[in-house]
Amino acid sequence: MDIRNHLLKRLSDGKFHSGEALGEALGVTRMAVWKHLKALRETGISLEVVRGKGYCLPGPVELLDGQRIRSGLGAGTRARLGPVEVLLEVDSTNNRLREQALNGAPTGAVCVAEQQHAGRGRQGRTWVSPFGENLYLSLLWRSRAGAAALGGLSLVAGIAVLRSLKEQGIHQAGLKWPNDILVNGAKLAGILIDVTGESSGPCAAIIGIGLNVCMSRSAAAGIDRSWVDLHTLTGRADLSRNRLAAGLLDKLLPAIELFESQGMQPFMEEWRQHDIVDGRQIELHLPNEVIQGRGCGIDPAGALLVETSTGRRRFASGEVSLRVSS
Ligand code: BTN
Repeated sequence: MDIRNHLLKRLSDGKFHSGEALGEALGVTRMAVWKHLKALRETGISLEVVRGKGYCLPGPVELLDGQRIRSGLGAGTRARLGPVEVLLEVDSTNNRLREQALNGAPTGAVCVAEQQHAGRGRQGRTWVSPFGENLYLSLLWRSRAGAAALGGLSLVAGIAVLRSLKEQGIHQAGLKWPNDILVNGAKLAGILIDVTGESSGPCAAIIGIGLNVCMSRSAAAGIDRSWVDLHTLTGRADLSRNRLAAGLLDKLLPAIELFESQGMQPFMEEWRQHDIVDGRQIELHLPNEVIQGRGCGIDPAGALLVETSTGRRRFASGEVSLRVSS
């Protein structure tokens, strides 16, 4: 573990630590402590500095920890999961894993980060990713079936997220095609899938999940849509992101394996039960047109079905943005 990780670990109790005490504990000078903490602040971590008291984080934080994530997994997932990389900061865990995939990372490799500087959402949106507050997790999945067969993958990942939320006592979450997990219209989690490789040959899918766990108002100031986090929904201050990551992976891995062997079919009913678009008036924003109609569920390829004035039409996710009007 490098010195910045060590420093954050010490500070993770949310209490003040003097530069001297930190230096002593880590075997470095006070000046070195100051330099490293300055560098950490420059990455976006809000560190309080008070003369005579020292440094502290805004509150206690359980840092992400690969060992803890692994030990929280069920035995089956643990045996099949690839390496888990934990980063203090990254542009985007999806970008990182895409690089790793190009360098031969195995299927099941995972990347989680404390913060993302360029967290990505669908359609070029930014995914706000402050330090230590939420979960930013990506999983690499290699498939022989080719990119064209992965149309439903983002929907299956959504179902896996929903299943893991149920284990946290969240039963009211719904799925908004293709990738939003919402509670009463407020976004709790989102999924972004990047696929590289061939359309009908070997390809690598990077399944990125952002889950709002305990987001500070200041960090969320830039979000222009309604959002919610697990802390608000459960009232629990002791949510462990390591356990949440393990719970997520425990649901994700078997779901993807089942999808790979049987497609969307085993998931159709569960999607229908949680589909918040079904029967609602919607607007679909395509690059060159806006479609109005009524949501009618999905087809077995994961495409959205819409009843329009000219008949029933299907839409693959791609560059489609969906608004629910009533
Ligand atoms: C969306 O709802 O638009 C998708 C959001 C996906 C965010 C996650 S956070 C982990 C991974 N890394 C990214 O840059 N994006 C995804």
